[in-house]
Amino acid sequence: MNRRGFLNASAMATAGFSILPSGILRAANGPNNRLNIALIGVSGRALAHYGWLKEQSVVALCDINEAFFEHALTAFPGAKTYTDWRQCLEHKGLDAVVICTPDHHHAFISNWALNRDLHVYCEKPLAISVEEARIVRQNWLGKKGKLATQVGTQMHAQPNYARIKEMILDGAIGGLESAVGWGNRKIRRDGYFPAAGKPPAGLHWDLWLGPSPVRPYNPRYFSGGPGANCLEWNMFWDWGVGQIGDMGSHMMDMLWNGVDGTLPTSIRATGEAYNPEVTPVLLEAHFEHPANDWRGPIRVSWHQGGSLPRNPRPFIDFDQIGHGVMFQGTQGFIICDYTRRLLIPDGKDADLSYYKPRSAERQLPPIGQFHQNWLDACKDPSKSTCCDFEYHSHLIEQMLLGLVAYRTGETLEYDGANGVVTNHAEANPLLKRHYREGWVLNG
Ligand SMILES: NC(=O)c1ccc[n+]([C@@H]2O[C@H](COP(=O)([O-])OP(=O)(O)OC[C@H]3O[C@@H](n4cnc5c(N)ncnc54)[C@H](O)[C@@H]3O)[C@@H](O)[C@H]2O)c1
Repeated sequence: MNRRGFLNASAMATAGFSILPSGILRAANGPNNRLNIALIGVSGRALAHYGWLKEQSVVALCDINEAFFEHALTAFPGAKTYTDWRQCLEHKGLDAVVICTPDHHHAFISNWALNRDLHVYCEKPLAISVEEARIVRQNWLGKKGKLATQVGTQMHAQPNYARIKEMILDGAIGGLESAVGWGNRKIRRDGYFPAAGKPPAGLHWDLWLGPSPVRPYNPRYFSGGPGANCLEWNMFWDWGVGQIGDMGSHMMDMLWNGVDGTLPTSIRATGEAYNPEVTPVLLEAHFEHPANDWRGPIRVSWHQGGSLPRNPRPFIDFDQIGHGVMFQGTQGFIICDYTRRLLIPDGKDADLSYYKPRSAERQLPPIGQFHQNWLDACKDPSKSTCCDFEYHSHLIEQMLLGLVAYRTGETLEYDGANGVVTNHAEANPLLKRHYREGWVLNG
């Protein structure tokens, strides 16, 4: 069954049955309702997705390292293999793509997939420049309701995210004033590695570089373990944005969910001395956010690499928490990580009489299994996903603006409607990356 037939059939689905174009009725979860998926980047992080992908039809496998195909083909026998994702996306009959490549390809593949009417699951971060984030969002908004998207911030399905949101909405800390996320990873590199040997046969270094400038091959870029190899390349400006895009995507997701963030109006950031090859380890960034329909204006902040937020209680060790978020309100603090939360009432009036925790029946609905959340929306795109490309593109656009403010050293005023820094012209060229000839961002 091709994708269009699938979409029509899912739109017509009633009481667990789909009417196929041929008029045959089949059970909604039967083999013929499996999505035809292209998996782009088949090893590393992708291995964590094999379990649920095996329940679908992975018909195309794409990787720049042919050595990974043997293992992938044992999981997905009969799939066609590709080394260039641009060709893979032309595979006939695709419904969806799952993107597990390095970060500098994410926005490219996402745009190309959306432009071909494919559902997209993309590992975080969705973009590594402000322009990339905005173009993917624009493409997604044009397809919303017809396609499904999800960014791989899978911790969002932890019940703790909903419980924290409810505590804030129900007044546990009074009126929300600010929120801060932090991460304590410190992976320091001085610059790109020098040329060292030739890529092994079957490793297509030029396709790995993709839209980014030509750089010499060095096997160190491939020396990390499965799912951790990103820590060997994501701090280099050409291929990632360091911890802002890595753990920043996860922690800012927890924060964003709690504050219902959109785009900041003002940004300032400080950190270690600028290195044109490597993103900063030590950094802090602060963003002013406008009021929304349930709270006043707030400040959102991010700290990494040794910078930590001001600690309201010395007996709490932010460094031990590792990666965390703190919400501050007029009556106290919530300090949390993926699965734990701590409420600290603060001030002489903090007697919690103002806190009206909701009953179990009124709790926010559970997300369920994170990947299923996307699969359900692929089968019925009128359903939303918890981390769609609108939600995540806003939060990553903010983080990327933090890097621009860091580079300029100025407090930037931002017109989010038009994607323009209004008070410092030198910042605007830094909102985009330059690509190698032959690589089209929105193809
Ligand atoms: N959601 C999470 O918790 C989580 C955890 C780890 C990694 N990630 C993300 O997953 C992505 C991959 O990270 P990783 O550590 O697996 O990296 P990796 O370097 O191991 O690369 C993953 C796979 O992509 C392949 N690849 C590289 N360039 C490609 C290209 N142009 N086309 C097709 N395949 C290509 C590699 O050969 C490899 O098989 C990153 O974006 C990272 O941020 C997410």
